[in-house]
Amino acid sequence: MISDKKPAVVGRLLRRIRLSKTGSAKDVWLVSIGTDGKLAYESGDWLMVSPQNPPDQVGRLAKLLKNADFDRLSRDFTILSVHRPLAQWIFENAAREESHGQLSDWLKGDFCALTRGYVVADILERFANVPVPAEALEVNLKPLKPRLYSIASAPEVDPNTIELVVASAFYAGPDGKYHEGAASSFLNKYLPIGGEMHIQVAKTHFKLPNDPRTDVIFVGPGTGIAPFRGFLQQRDFLIKSGDQLGRSWLFFGDQHRAMDYIFEDELAAYQKSGALTRLDLAFSRDQDHKIYVQDRIWENREEIWKWVSGGTYIYVCGTANPMAKDVLEAFAKIARVCGNLSEEAAKDYVQIMQKSRRYLQDVY
Ligand SMILES: Cc1cc2nc3c(=O)[nH]c(=O)nc-3n(C[C@H](O)[C@H](O)[C@H](O)COP(=O)(O)OP(=O)(O)OC[C@H]3O[C@@H](n4cnc5c(N)ncnc54)[C@H](O)[C@@H]3O)c2cc1C
Ligand SMILES: NC(=O)c1ccc[n+]([C@@H]2O[C@H](COP(=O)([O-])OP(=O)(O)OC[C@H]3O[C@@H](n4cnc5c(N)ncnc54)[C@H](OP(=O)(O)O)[C@@H]3O)[C@@H](O)[C@H]2O)c1
Repeated sequence: MISDKKPAVVGRLLRRIRLSKTGSAKDVWLVSIGTDGKLAYESGDWLMVSPQNPPDQVGRLAKLLKNADFDRLSRDFTILSVHRPLAQWIFENAAREESHGQLSDWLKGDFCALTRGYVVADILERFANVPVPAEALEVNLKPLKPRLYSIASAPEVDPNTIELVVASAFYAGPDGKYHEGAASSFLNKYLPIGGEMHIQVAKTHFKLPNDPRTDVIFVGPGTGIAPFRGFLQQRDFLIKSGDQLGRSWLFFGDQHRAMDYIFEDELAAYQKSGALTRLDLAFSRDQDHKIYVQDRIWENREEIWKWVSGGTYIYVCGTANPMAKDVLEAFAKIARVCGNLSEEAAKDYVQIMQKSRRYLQDVY
């Protein structure tokens, strides 16, 4: 169970490098955080980050409040989405005469759907007699929770630095303008270099096999590549230390090779060093039909089945639905077709792999 409490350790932003190239629909950054040795971690762990709200939204909200505390509005409350108790409180205590009807309709209807895309300042501007006392508003706001990120580095390279691969989240508001996600904009844009953030490591079971000679398959499209970068750093370190390693096979992809092939040079270097044995890529929008990682897995089914039936560990990271679900189905189909199993037996096969932690997922 991950705690919602503010993480205790203070980390510092060392640098950020934009990974997606000009023209990409994505805005993905490599974010490096200095820990000064205060946080022990292993590749495959998660980092909890306490975000701060975008300064323009904090400023906008503060102007609508009496006695606004900028710091608390930045750090403590969710202001980028609207929570029913806030609307209820405005309805009962601060609604403008002419807004009673619409607010009442919202409260009676599907509140989440009706308020999707609105931020707290929108609601105050639209419905409330402003300025509203900050203390009264604050008790009706949800706390701003820490966000999780898959760690994209290995302590074997630098135990004092944790790296993340962060995709900026953005969504259209009712006015058609784009709003930013709180944590991703904090990490990718607003926190200055040298700026501090509250962080904590969350331990996972997403770890390389105890025996380094075991073969591994990594499936990580988009930001799903993050933990595999950590694993490859770890494997590279082990090779340089003289260890004998099993084979590794990475399936990566995103929209376009020209703009979204992140870590291309690093992956090439890992292929040279032997940390990465095979690499298959699926760029979904470089042709007139979609090609996804599971299509590459299926194309290679005979070879995959040899690896899997020989004891390979499988790791999947990225979006839970539909990506990870579809990838799991692809492996079950391979077990059925190449392993000559019935549909039921093939499902059991991957389920047993999951239960015995030979098929691991880090999905969101
Ligand atoms: C285990 C785990 C590992 C993860 N690893 C990574 C990783 O390595 N890299 C990475 O980039 N992310 C990762 N994530 C996702 C990350 O935790 C955040 O959820 C992500 O960065 C978005 O957070 P945010 O605060 O920027 O956006 P939020 O402010 O939380 O918004 C998130 C999304 O919700 C929607 N949304 C929110 N409010 C509204 C609204 N009012 N109207 C319409 N839509 C809305 C939007 O689609 C928006 O993009 C991981 C998540 C988990 C659980
Ligand atoms: N606008 C935003 O708020 C925003 C921006 C970036 C990311 N995100 C969110 O952040 C999360 C991670 O994003 P990400 O950039 O890491 O990756 P992503 O959006 O999941 O995309 C990575 C790759 O996976 C492909 N894909 C889509 N459906 C798939 C499926 N069923 N099976 C296999 N592959 C599939 C995508 O193809 P196609 O896209 O061509 O279908 C793309 O090539 C997602 O939840 C995403 O929605 C939000």
